[in-house]
Amino acid sequence: MARIEAEVGKSQNGLMKWIDDRFPLTKTMKHHVTEYYASKNFNWWFVFGVLAMVVLVIQLVTGIFLTMNYKPAAAEAFASVEYIMRDVEWGWLIRYMHSTGASFFFIVVYLHMFRAMLYGSYKKPRELIWLIGMMIFFVLMAEGFAGYLLPWGQMSYWGAQVIISLFGAIPVVGDGLVEFIRGDYSISDITLNRFFALHVIVLPLALIGLIFVHIVALHEVGSNNPDGIEIKKNKGPDGIPLDGVPFHPHHTSKDLIGIIVFLMIFSAVVFFAPDMGGMFLEHANFEPANLTATPEHIAPVWYYTPYYAILRAVPDKLWGFILFGLSVLLPVFLPWLDRCRVRSIRYRGWMYKTALSIFVVTFLTLGWLGLQPATETYVLLARIFSVLYFAFFLLMPFYTAADKTKPVPDRVVYHD
Ligand code: HEM
Repeated sequence: MARIEAEVGKSQNGLMKWIDDRFPLTKTMKHHVTEYYASKNFNWWFVFGVLAMVVLVIQLVTGIFLTMNYKPAAAEAFASVEYIMRDVEWGWLIRYMHSTGASFFFIVVYLHMFRAMLYGSYKKPRELIWLIGMMIFFVLMAEGFAGYLLPWGQMSYWGAQVIISLFGAIPVVGDGLVEFIRGDYSISDITLNRFFALHVIVLPLALIGLIFVHIVALHEVGSNNPDGIEIKKNKGPDGIPLDGVPFHPHHTSKDLIGIIVFLMIFSAVVFFAPDMGGMFLEHANFEPANLTATPEHIAPVWYYTPYYAILRAVPDKLWGFILFGLSVLLPVFLPWLDRCRVRSIRYRGWMYKTALSIFVVTFLTLGWLGLQPATETYVLLARIFSVLYFAFFLLMPFYTAADKTKPVPDRVVYHD
């Protein structure tokens, strides 16, 4: 028995050696997994990056199966989705996993971004990780938008109509740009075809490429941690950070628990509340697109509504578009707007803590307001919260510089 095991081990080593002589497999695994040292005090906020990858895989796999039965043509798209739901074996599950996955992608990515705001993960030397992350976020927004047109329901059509026509507010080039995006004088079969191409090929490829460089950039500088301490500053005689543990098996085992809990919540939604009361799949989208009847109340899916509320808060079309664009763009500049000397919220003063808390309430309230009809009261509230949204970013250089910070320990805080 022992002899057989030794033989198997030898042939495996032989195979690995054969591969390693031709491809840096062991070297890459060591560098990025088994000898990638990350702080031992990671908390649950650090699981969302991995969860975003899990959702990406769910979206890619279910997306491939949907594409096998979906018809990207205005005359057939809606019926083909119904066909998937009713006639294709397990089609309902694949479709609900994909539609629920879209919302979960944003939940996970918003929490992942919030983690960076809690622990100053965007600060030097991780600015590039943040910038690549923001690019991922923009591509994700475009991916969700293109995907939402595909079922060719009422909200697919009219939501796209509202958002694409926004670009018409840009002086001089606006009208041409709108026509360029649609590929036609109105949203039509041609628009559906190009959105399909973007949704299944262009944007997923861009996402995968960006996520790859996101991780390469992360592994170049190393992960942050809840204390915001650079673990590479305290190395042992072997050159290994004293507060670091190998990513595998220490963090992979912890991540696995996160993935299991995530899949339990995800399944509960897929099986028991796939439309989430109209939040994940809007009610109007269960009706085929009708070019002659505008739905009574047009609202984008929940993950765009904070920005949509800002857009509607501004009476002027051009300024609405500018502030809408700025609201999406401003987080890009966080690494330079934040002037605090410490990274982690644990050692920051009351000013940042207060500002971040107000920001969370503001973002959620704007998201809720974006789902409401544009009545006078709601628009007034949206104006107040839009001011708070911009104040968080634009006043940041002042309150973060003035904030009284606590001394940061040399080593990470870790309780066994
Ligand atoms: C599909 C989307 C994304 C995927 C798959 C992804 C994946 C990851 C992974 C696996 C990590 C390392 C584990 C962790 O720290 O959680 C990470 C770190 C990081 N990500 Fe992302 N990410 C995504 C989107 C974003 C976005 C939108 C942002 C922000 C704009 C962002 C900013 C960061 C930052 C700053 C870090 C370093 C965190 C630290 O060291 O504390 N990521 N990402």
